Formats: sequence, structure tokens, C-alpha cells
Amino acid sequence: MTTAGQQPDQDRTDAFLERVITDSAAAFAGLATSIGARLGLYTAMAGAGPLTAEQLAQRAGIDERYAREWLAAQVAGEYVTYDPATGYLLPDEHAAVLADPDAPTYAVGAFTMLQALYATEDALVDAYRTGRGVSWHDHRPELFEGVASFFRPGYAAQAVQEWLPALDRVEEKLHRGASVADVGCGFGDATLLMAHAFPHSRIHGFDFHQPSIDAARIAAAQQQVGDRVFFHTAAATELAGGPYDLITFFDCLHDLGDPRAALARAEQALAPDGSCLIVEPNTSADPRQTTNPIGRSFASTSALLCLPAAIAQNGPHALGNHAGEAALRELAHEAGLTSWRLVKETPVSRVYDVRR
Ligand SMILES: C[S@@+](CC[C@H](N)C(=O)[O-])C[C@H]1O[C@@H](n2cnc3c(N)ncnc32)[C@H](O)[C@@H]1O
Repeated sequence: MTTAGQQPDQDRTDAFLERVITDSAAAFAGLATSIGARLGLYTAMAGAGPLTAEQLAQRAGIDERYAREWLAAQVAGEYVTYDPATGYLLPDEHAAVLADPDAPTYAVGAFTMLQALYATEDALVDAYRTGRGVSWHDHRPELFEGVASFFRPGYAAQAVQEWLPALDRVEEKLHRGASVADVGCGFGDATLLMAHAFPHSRIHGFDFHQPSIDAARIAAAQQQVGDRVFFHTAAATELAGGPYDLITFFDCLHDLGDPRAALARAEQALAPDGSCLIVEPNTSADPRQTTNPIGRSFASTSALLCLPAAIAQNGPHALGNHAGEAALRELAHEAGLTSWRLVKETPVSRVYDVRR
């Protein structure tokens, strides 16, 4: 029986079936993309011109038979082109998306997250039945690498160049030498970018996930900024030190079990003229506004990662990543941060300048 008591429209059924088959093809292909990135296959093909399967296998140190099969899947997905006379080619434009982690267009992080998320399916089924959470700590290491890789290109292209200068009276303080706390810093990519850009400032990264803090400390040592950036394992509500001229929340506020308490702690730790930079996904609280690839990605990661991880913290607010500006603004207001200003908007992020 259908909603209207009639047979479903055949053309619309066929069109939707095609859509779902397209999605399932992309889901199958996603694992091949993740494997290709892990094995360095895209990197081996970048700038190399046309290659045979044997040449790719040799360059990347993988089995030739598997190289051929992987390449066939890449051609089917139009990631790689194939000319029988010359071989398989990764176009430069595709290399900018798949092969170069420093490119602003690098998009492999999502695929690294995916394989870790698929591995949590049993835990998620259980969580959906019981209402309990799936803790951030219960995910595979690839999840944390994937999250960092997903956000890194956007931060590298915009955080220092556009977002921080858009805040009122902040950039000059950072150049002079300011005290900064980066809450929920993860692998510390944004923290380290600030440390490089503002050598006179002291930047403290905080995260409750020890393996992420370990990774951030290693990166700080490798990048030789250990004299000005310091990483601490701490919950957002236990932010130590201060007063801080700037407290940043890069794509983490909605992940916290108690975002209002974290904002209240930030308010206490701010210097008199201090400000918070809050970066949140650019997506809508109205599901009808999310029917696009970015909206769909955020809505899905909210259902699979952000919401379950916040619920696992047993806090009063499990927001999900599309709670919307009004809900976030209200929490900030309740925390004593009554000045709220949207200062930048990209297809992926909304950036707010928030103060007392
Ligand atoms: C989506 S990640 C963003 C990480 C980083 N800011 C970035 O953009 O790459 C969210 C981060 O929030 C951290 N987190 C979640 N709940 C937390 C809490 N209660 N206290 C501190 N950190 C928390 C997680 O460990 C994770 O690193």
C-alpha cells in the first residue's frame, strides 16, 4: 500500500532508483579512493604522465594485478583517464584534489574518515536503539586523521589570511604577542597555523582526546614551533590558564557534550577585551535547505559522528552539527557572551566573532 493508495509512479521510481544506484556506486568507489590514498597511488600518478598498470605498481610498490584492477575502478569513476595507446593518466586538476595534501582543494580526508565510520556501524545500530552515545575515543585512529585532513586545507587557505583578520581588534594583538587558547584542537592544525603566523604569541591547544594531543605535539616538534605552542589534554570545560586574548573553537563547539559550560568557561578565561572565534559547519537547521552535497555530508556526519560523540559525554546539549546559528548564539548568550557577529562565510564554514 502506498501513501495515496495507488501504485507509485514508475518514472519517478526509476529516476530515484538511478539516484540510489549512483550513490551506492560512489560508496563502493569511496573505499577504493581511501585505499589509493593510503597506498600513495594518486601521489605516484601525479605529474607522471600516462602510466601502465605495471609502471604504477612499480612506482607505488604494490602488486601489479591489483594495480590494474584499481585503475579500472578509477577509470569507471572518471578519476583517471585511459588511452590504450599511452596508458592511465591522473589529470593535474584531479591530482590537486586527490594527491597533494597541501592543496586547498585536497579532499581525501573525507574518505579516510569514511572507512573508520563504516567500522562503527554495529556500535551505531546499538546507540540508535538505546539512545546511548558512541564516544569520540571509541573510533579507529583513521577517524582522527581523516577529520584533521578534512578540515586542514580550508584552515590553511583561510584561517590566518581571512578569518582572524575579520575579527575586531584581534590581528594586531596577535602580531604584537597575544595569549591564545584553541579549544578542541584535535591534531592542532589550526593551532600550528596560528603559531607560524604570529611568532610573538603564545598558543595553547586543548583537547580531551589524548591520541590527538600526542599527534599535535609531534607535529609541533616537527614544525619547530614548540617554543610558542603548547598542547594540553583537557576537557573544554576545564580550560586552564588565561586570561586569553583569543579563544578559538574550530569545528568543535557542537561536538562538546556541554557547549554552554565550555563557552561559560571561555568567558571566564577571556581577557577584558578578549574575543572568541567560533567556526562551525555552514549548514542549515532546516533540513529542506540541506539537499546539496555539503549539506548532505554534514547531516550524515552529524548522524554518524557528531551527535553520538556528544551524547556519549552525557552533557545537557547534544547539538549535532546543524543546530543552526540561533541555537549557538543563544548558548553563547547564556554563557555571558552576548556579542555575536557572523564575519565570514564559505561553502563549508561559518565564522563568528563572539565577545562579552
Ligand atoms: C571535529 S573535531 C575538530 C578538531 C580540530 N579543531 C580541527 O578542526 O581539526 C572535534 C574535536 O573536539 C574534541 N572534543 C570533543 N569533545 C570535547 C570536550 N568535551 N573537551 C575537549 N575536546 C573535545 C575532539 O576530541 C575533537 O578533536
